[in-house]
Amino acid sequence: MAVKELAILVVFSLTVCTGHEFFTSTDKISHLFEEEGFLLSAFASYIDAEEDIIKKMKSVLLLLQLRTHTDPSDPSEIKDPVAAFNLLIRLRSDWLSIEKYTLRSLHEYNVYQILLEHAQIPQLEDLMGAASGLISLQELYKLYPNNITKETSLNADNACFVGSVAYSEDKFQHAFLWFLYSLNRLTEYSTTTEEELLQYLSDSAYHFGSLPTAIYFSKWLFDLDPTNDEVKVQLDLYRLLHNKRKSNPDIFTLNTESSNSYEALCRGEIDERTSRRQRALSCRYSTGGGNPRLMYAPVKEEEEWDEPRIIRFHDIISDQEIEILKNISRPLLSRSEVFQDGRGAVSKGRVSQSVFLQDDDPVDALVNQRIADATGLSMETAELLHVQNYGIGGRYEPHNDALNIRNDRIATFLFYMSDVEIGGATVFPEAGVAVQPKKGSAVFWYNLHRNGKVDSNAKHAGCPVLWGNKWVANKWIYEFGQEFKRPCSLSEWE
Ligand SMILES: *[C@@H]1O[C@H](CO)[C@@H](O)[C@H](O)[C@H]1NC(C)=O
Ligand SMILES: *[C@@H]1O[C@H](CO)[C@@H](O)[C@H](O)[C@H]1NC(C)=O
Repeated sequence: MAVKELAILVVFSLTVCTGHEFFTSTDKISHLFEEEGFLLSAFASYIDAEEDIIKKMKSVLLLLQLRTHTDPSDPSEIKDPVAAFNLLIRLRSDWLSIEKYTLRSLHEYNVYQILLEHAQIPQLEDLMGAASGLISLQELYKLYPNNITKETSLNADNACFVGSVAYSEDKFQHAFLWFLYSLNRLTEYSTTTEEELLQYLSDSAYHFGSLPTAIYFSKWLFDLDPTNDEVKVQLDLYRLLHNKRKSNPDIFTLNTESSNSYEALCRGEIDERTSRRQRALSCRYSTGGGNPRLMYAPVKEEEEWDEPRIIRFHDIISDQEIEILKNISRPLLSRSEVFQDGRGAVSKGRVSQSVFLQDDDPVDALVNQRIADATGLSMETAELLHVQNYGIGGRYEPHNDALNIRNDRIATFLFYMSDVEIGGATVFPEAGVAVQPKKGSAVFWYNLHRNGKVDSNAKHAGCPVLWGNKWVANKWIYEFGQEFKRPCSLSEWE
């Protein structure tokens, strides 16, 4: 009713605007008495409609506020990837409900505009990226949907969304498992339908090569609607194919074999250090060969590995310094890039946000001094401090920091600014070594041999963070300036 009268109000004002000459006719003026009564009642209806919308908006607000009650007390410390994913989904759906109501409101303070300018609303691409991150976690750590949703479950619609992202990435087994998870959680409130899921399940099973499973779900779909000819054709085709084909991979069970040493290391399966070799490694307090700054506060050095030589410095950065570094970096973080064809580019192999701090930042000077003292290297040609935070499934696939250029990155110094509950190790696939993040410590290694050649053993990767929040800061140190600090060698072997 209100809507109809609103429409009349609009028509009315349009008539006025098109300029009927009321003043030249008394008859028309007398009509205006009626029109005025109508105008005022239309205006009253409009106000009612606005109030109605306001009431609805208030109840929507209340509902949205209720949903935030389950949030962690410290939102910056969100550790559960599924909870993070749910938050993204929720924020976007909050935004869509707010948008729906504010767009309808003709109020002069257009909330929509204000939100549009100030709010940071996850876009569909963000949700797809987060779902993709969850899937890559599952692939690497061999996790089923019920493993990854132990703490936070996904509703049928969100699970179906993750499944469809896996499907679009041709990851049919994970897609299948998510659709199955979704099917088991369908309720009367789900917008996803049983038919939709059955079709998806059948398609995923077919693409995975598991025809009996594809037939099973097609049959189920057909039983729901025996008049559906398309499903009939599909079912016949699958039966025909099944009779011809022998192989029948099990779509319900994930393959637990790691395809390479990077994955195996990230999963904690192999680590050379369990061998005898590690016992030869040492741990000591160093004063940097008599460095006066270290005489009273020697650095705690631990040799993590010998080839490449990886040194861990314990308690080298304080919690307060870490807090300051995070605080400076937070507003400046942006998607990390990799070096490709001579320039930076966003890559799926590197999922994190990062920032290079300014060189006039006092923290940079402090950190430089700390690294110079610990390593004995010159920081004059080092890059600015690079702070990184990893998101859902955040990782950095195997790479070498040295770029094989003149004045290369001779060494890397990596601060761990958080502990990571599960995942997030720094692994060296060639050497077979995994180094676990430990807040306040740092690791250091050379990327180049003494003869200037790139050390292939220094190739490393950041494993995906399965549970937790990974913050690191690293400093890339260059060759120039180290001539007297780390004399080069002509030997092939150094
Ligand atoms: C993951 O789920 C599977 C299947 O439900 C179960 O067999 C397995 O033990 C779980 N793994 C972990 C690490 O919880
Ligand atoms: C970091 O920022 C938080 C929140 O703005 C503030 O409470 C805290 O005192 C800051 N910490 C440091 C060490 O600057």
